[in-house]
Amino acid sequence: HEEFTKVKNIATIELGRYEIETWYFSPFPPECNDSLKLYFCEFCLNFMKRKEQLQRHMRKCDLKHPPGDEIYRSGTLSMFEVDGKKNKVYGQNLCYLAKLFLDHKTLYYDVDLFLFYVLCECDDRGCHMVGYFSKEKHSEESYNLACILTLPPYQRKGYGKFLIAFSYELSKKEGKVGTPERPLSDLGLLSYRGYWTRVLLDILKKHKGNISIKELSDMTAIKAEDILATLQGLELIQYRKGQHVICADPKVLDRHLKAAGRGGLEVDVSKLIWTPYK
Ligand code: COA
Ligand code: NA
Repeated sequence: HEEFTKVKNIATIELGRYEIETWYFSPFPPECNDSLKLYFCEFCLNFMKRKEQLQRHMRKCDLKHPPGDEIYRSGTLSMFEVDGKKNKVYGQNLCYLAKLFLDHKTLYYDVDLFLFYVLCECDDRGCHMVGYFSKEKHSEESYNLACILTLPPYQRKGYGKFLIAFSYELSKKEGKVGTPERPLSDLGLLSYRGYWTRVLLDILKKHKGNISIKELSDMTAIKAEDILATLQGLELIQYRKGQHVICADPKVLDRHLKAAGRGGLEVDVSKLIWTPYK
């Protein structure tokens, strides 16, 4: 694999009603490399070098939402599942776009092997992408998420935690435990730690009596290693007679929960209509 530690090329993008400053290099096709700005169609994610090209495109483009199946709708939020094999160009465009905000991820050219879960805020003009995560169709390492992105104008509003929660809801429906692909970025790790802490401590608070890491894993679809690391990080694990014991003093739990920040947007599982990929 080629390493993409290159100088940032595209400085800004236009996407829907936003102009967004980019963070990192992304390996757009060579003909784009002399542009400082790219214009994206917010629906099909095709990108162009000139505003007039985009305007012409918008008059022709029929899409008003990501291609693929709407698998979740709650209020103005919708989630679409896009199969990279059926929508190759869309998948590639999404990867180019995402790489602008992801540092050490290699871009997946082989989008065939992935599903993309694209979160949108919908209004009468269409469904506007807020962020997404990708997921391998078949993961031997039990990854339930490869890349995750909230577009900068939408960050710090709880969408990241929503996307993470959603990835675990899919794992629950599959009857599997899951874990995000590594390495995680600093922001990715912060978001995951917050999610894991909140979910696990909420259970510990309500639960009467002892509970094992295996039981927590079965309830949450969070991989046992991630549970152990989270609870160890919070110093809630003691090692007694060769066994991990979770200490769950309510006062200590409350203090950690408070520090873990807001819960973010809830995933309403009753609004998820989905069967696992076969
Ligand atoms: N500074 C400090 N903490 C931050 C932060 C920032 N800029 N952004 C997120 N966090 C932490 C906070 O703890 C936050 O919770 P809080 O707002 O309750 O304090 C938590 O992460 C998640 O916030 P949330 O609003 O749910 O996440 P988000 O929508 O901003 O998305 C990412 C989080 C990681 C998806 C987003 O930062 C992103 O797309 N980053 C670029 C791509 C990336 O790094 N992806 C991960 C690759 S592994
Ligand atoms: Na990731």
